[in-house]
Amino acid sequence: MKKTILSGSTVTGDLTLGNYIGAINNWKRMQDEYDCLYFLADLHALTVHQDPAVLRERTYSFFAQYIALGLDPQKNIIFAQSQIHEHAELAWILTCLTPMGYLNRMTQFKEKAEKNVKNINAGLFSYPVLMAADILLYQADLVPVGEDQKQHLELCRDLVGYFENRYGKGVFKMPEPSIGKVGARIMSLQDPTKKMSKSDDNEKNYVSIIDDPKKIEKKIKSAATDSGTEIKYDPENKPGVANLLVIFSILSGKSLEQLENDYAGKMYGHLKVDLAELVVQTLTPVRERYLDLMKNKDHLHQLLQQGADRAQERARETLRKTYEAVGLISRS
Ligand code: AMP
Ligand code: TRP
Repeated sequence: MKKTILSGSTVTGDLTLGNYIGAINNWKRMQDEYDCLYFLADLHALTVHQDPAVLRERTYSFFAQYIALGLDPQKNIIFAQSQIHEHAELAWILTCLTPMGYLNRMTQFKEKAEKNVKNINAGLFSYPVLMAADILLYQADLVPVGEDQKQHLELCRDLVGYFENRYGKGVFKMPEPSIGKVGARIMSLQDPTKKMSKSDDNEKNYVSIIDDPKKIEKKIKSAATDSGTEIKYDPENKPGVANLLVIFSILSGKSLEQLENDYAGKMYGHLKVDLAELVVQTLTPVRERYLDLMKNKDHLHQLLQQGADRAQERARETLRKTYEAVGLISRS
């Protein structure tokens, strides 16, 4: 039996190079070996205000970017979260098992609440519970995510424990996080002490997957570097250069040491010019494929529908077992 992998990204902002390196690139590597489900977390997006037309368009756009980046909708089950009503239903059951104090400690909640002082809604607070439902519905063994999601995975695992204490075992599988070592946290281009985030207000902080070559070049060339001149991987003292080296290393397949050797005696400018070229080379075919896919929304819609049908078969079964365990009347 192949292990089941599940992951997703929230449908907000623009998918970035950070999402690609920290997440989608790893998903892609797993698609041959595992049973994979990848989804568009559109319900999660509603925790901040969304323009309805933009949200819908962006969901198609992210889906097209997943495919353009190399995720195969036949090999994997790729779907939109909101098309499977079981997510919201399981989230409710789990909400009733989650201590408020636990959610209060979540770093992402604190950060997002600080950023959205005018809209600290209960959805933002209980976001990690919906995320646990996403994972548990599909009996996932492994959940590949970036470093920032580790705390949410811990909650998910604890919820399995709380559920089993109260209702017994056998309903959910205990999921394991899978966090890549290199590239788990690509940093912002202008402020390399912060992660590169797709909902950053300043677009100079990230490279979007579908940026045109000119924009990519400009953003990388104006990335903040550190004082000094030596090109060395030293995240503590040279976070800017270290970040560029990590991106370079992952996209080129060269080790960090090899890059340090290649650039010994050279200037930051050299590194940036070469990196900009590498990123453009990597993303240009992706962008072309993406633009092509977006021309045919009906086709995208059809593929999403097929993904949803395949996903729902599994979700339905888990929810049935859950309702039975907690004492809800079953639907015949
Ligand atoms: P998000 O952009 O927060 O919806 O995240 C989608 C996926 O991409 C998650 O697995 C994140 O951990 C990952 N991710 C997001 N930003 C980065 C980043 N800057 N570096 C590495 N991984 C990231
Ligand atoms: N919270 C994740 C993020 O912002 C996206 C997400 C939602 C997710 N549900 C998930 C990731 C389940 C993995 C598994 O990155």
